[in-house]
Amino acid sequence: MENILRLSVKLDSFKYTDGTEALSGINLEIQKGEFVGILGSNGSGKTTLLKIMDGLLKNFDGRAFLDGSDIAKLSPKDIYKKVGLVFQNPDDQLFAATVFEDVAFGPINMGFSESEVISRVKNALNAVEMDGYSKKSIHNLSFGQKKRVCIAGLLAMGHEILLLDEPTAGLDPMGEYKMMNLLTRLNKDNGVTIVMATHSVDLVPLFLDRLYILSKGRIVRGGVPEEVFTVPEEMSNVKLRLPQIAELIYRLKHEDNLSFEKIPLTIGEARREIIKFAGERR
Ligand SMILES: Nc1ncnc2c1ncn2[C@@H]1O[C@H](COP(=O)(O)OP(=O)(O)OP(=O)(O)O)[C@@H](O)[C@H]1O
Ligand SMILES: [Mg+2]
Repeated sequence: MENILRLSVKLDSFKYTDGTEALSGINLEIQKGEFVGILGSNGSGKTTLLKIMDGLLKNFDGRAFLDGSDIAKLSPKDIYKKVGLVFQNPDDQLFAATVFEDVAFGPINMGFSESEVISRVKNALNAVEMDGYSKKSIHNLSFGQKKRVCIAGLLAMGHEILLLDEPTAGLDPMGEYKMMNLLTRLNKDNGVTIVMATHSVDLVPLFLDRLYILSKGRIVRGGVPEEVFTVPEEMSNVKLRLPQIAELIYRLKHEDNLSFEKIPLTIGEARREIIKFAGERR
């Protein structure tokens, strides 16, 4: 992947008007084509950081850049052309009466023809497995369905950069995987740069290229999953945990003295390590 910096945030401090310092000492860079996670416990600052990247919060001590331009000086339209943000709470995002109207709003505003709008809405609803719901009232959707419609609304616009605030929260287990697979396809096949906030540590090593760990408004670690998920205590210090399979092998290695070479982060890697381990002892 060629390194083209698309987003960067360097800030000393961001305070909400009530004086809460939600972020401090942030240094984050997102390259074109990356799929990056922002992991952190409740209140660690994930949503705040995404809103800064989307230009929604501007009064911070520091600088944020989108393709080299100061985000604080860009108009919402300039940002919106490139970056789409999916809110954590779908009720903050959805506003139209029906699913079709909501998903069509973006493409209509972008000036597409009626037939193009219809085709974009259809494809987007299909991608999130919500076909057949276009006439349904937004109000009557389940939480997980609302979440999918929000993502469809963004997909229909075709942004180059997507910021997703906990896109899998509230989805059923199969829905979580499907959502992550969909995002991975967008990222790998369509080249969409994705930054997502999440708590889903088990999904991270399967799908994300790189992650930042936020704790109390600060980035405390960053890197590829293997660099970040190493010691359980370090994760529990920031109110997170290792992926469960990694925790199991870590304990077998360190508490039961079984000689695993590495700590796998996914079921697939663990399976290979266990087969290797069993083979050596046979
Ligand atoms: N509008 C606001 N005014 C004042 N304080 C706020 C506001 N929004 C968030 N905060 C505070 O800022 C801190 C970071 O909040 P933020 O929503 O960014 O966390 P988060 O990591 O997204 O949490 P969660 O996992 O619960 O979504 C918290 O202490 C929160 O109470
Ligand atoms: Mg949040």
